[in-house]
Amino acid sequence: MFRTINPEELNDNLFKMIGRDWLLVTAEKDGKANTMTASWGGAGIMWGKPSAFVFIRPQRFTKEFVDGSQEFSLTVLGSSHREILNYCGTVSGRDEDKIVKCGLTLAHEGKTPYFEEGNIVLICRKLFAQELAENSFLDKSIIEKWYPQRDYHTMYVAEIEKVLIKE
Ligand SMILES: Cc1cc2nc3c(=O)[nH]c(=O)nc-3n(C[C@H](O)[C@H](O)[C@H](O)COP(=O)(O)O)c2cc1C
Repeated sequence: MFRTINPEELNDNLFKMIGRDWLLVTAEKDGKANTMTASWGGAGIMWGKPSAFVFIRPQRFTKEFVDGSQEFSLTVLGSSHREILNYCGTVSGRDEDKIVKCGLTLAHEGKTPYFEEGNIVLICRKLFAQELAENSFLDKSIIEKWYPQRDYHTMYVAEIEKVLIKE
């Protein structure tokens, strides 16, 4: 069971939650959901709204789902689910149904898919999407280090419509 809290009531350290515990980014398109692990991104305030910032490379199958939907979720799984995060961060939904394979239980908040196994779920509504432009990098060493194939992330800014927390 989940209850809804205000984003300000979130006690977890976001640096740890995103960078160390990792997130599952999940979206649904044409009645089918896909998910992938993410450990980059952030949350804060943008355009006066509680917002999440997510970065997705062009080759991710999940990108098609995020692009094809108004909404997506960010699910923080408990620490006992590390294997699932590793799996969803290395295998592509193009090759198999990761959600079924991992035994994840798909649930919906309105139209937005998320997982029952989550401890914290952010329900997000897309506000903005833009591919990172090569000429906008002020520190060019980032390009060589992270983008040898020039596969720049698309940045999504999304309003956090709801925060669900496991009771
Ligand atoms: C710890 C971890 C963090 C990751 N973070 C991101 C990320 O923030 N953005 C991204 O595009 N890919 C990230 N990935 C890679 C995707 O999760 C991975 O390529 C996944 O298999 C994509 O699945 P899909 O093709 O079904 O979308 C991460 C992988 C791991 C293991």
